[in-house]
Amino acid sequence: MRIAVMVSGGGTNLQAIIDAINAGTITNTEIAVVISNNANAYALTRARENGIEAVCVSPKDYENRDTFNRELLNKVNAYNVDLVVLAGFLVKIPEEMVHQYNHRIINIHPSLIPSFCGVGFYGLKVHEAALEKGVKVTGATVHFVDEGMDTGRIILQKAVDVLENDTPQTLQRRVMEQAEWKILPQAIDMIANGRIH
Ligand code: GRF
Repeated sequence: MRIAVMVSGGGTNLQAIIDAINAGTITNTEIAVVISNNANAYALTRARENGIEAVCVSPKDYENRDTFNRELLNKVNAYNVDLVVLAGFLVKIPEEMVHQYNHRIINIHPSLIPSFCGVGFYGLKVHEAALEKGVKVTGATVHFVDEGMDTGRIILQKAVDVLENDTPQTLQRRVMEQAEWKILPQAIDMIANGRIH
């Protein structure tokens, strides 16, 4: 299976996928391309250091959203991929792409959906909201992407304890280590090997 990984930032989830492929815990999978909307994303460097093609499609380079959306879809199409993995990609996927890649786009979200998800819940904000609410357990979710925001069918979830002295930063890190970096590679391997229908 050929995959495109779409990123906006540090790329630790991308790294977890690369490591899992190298370790053989993801099988039958090749990263065809890493696409970022942000030219400065460290994820692009991680990709290049691992010999993976890395490209940037930034909204700043296009006159309007429609042109950007079209270019994003063209770019993904150009690599002939079976699955698109959103690994910290902060741009809403254009509807046309959702339709063309129906049930072939997955996303990792750093909470137990349906808690702390949807518009406005991204990055540290998710963990700030969890601490604000006082939940004792949070986690991460891998789900298919549909037209909504974090509304597609859930594939995998993993729970993580919230600790007494957590800050948004410490909680974010624990959710990544204990949940995101495990269930995202696991979901890719399940799809690559026909264990999700
Ligand atoms: C992760 O917390 C992911 O769940 C969220 O954005 C963050 C990306 O981190 N959507 P990284 O770029 O994979 O390090």
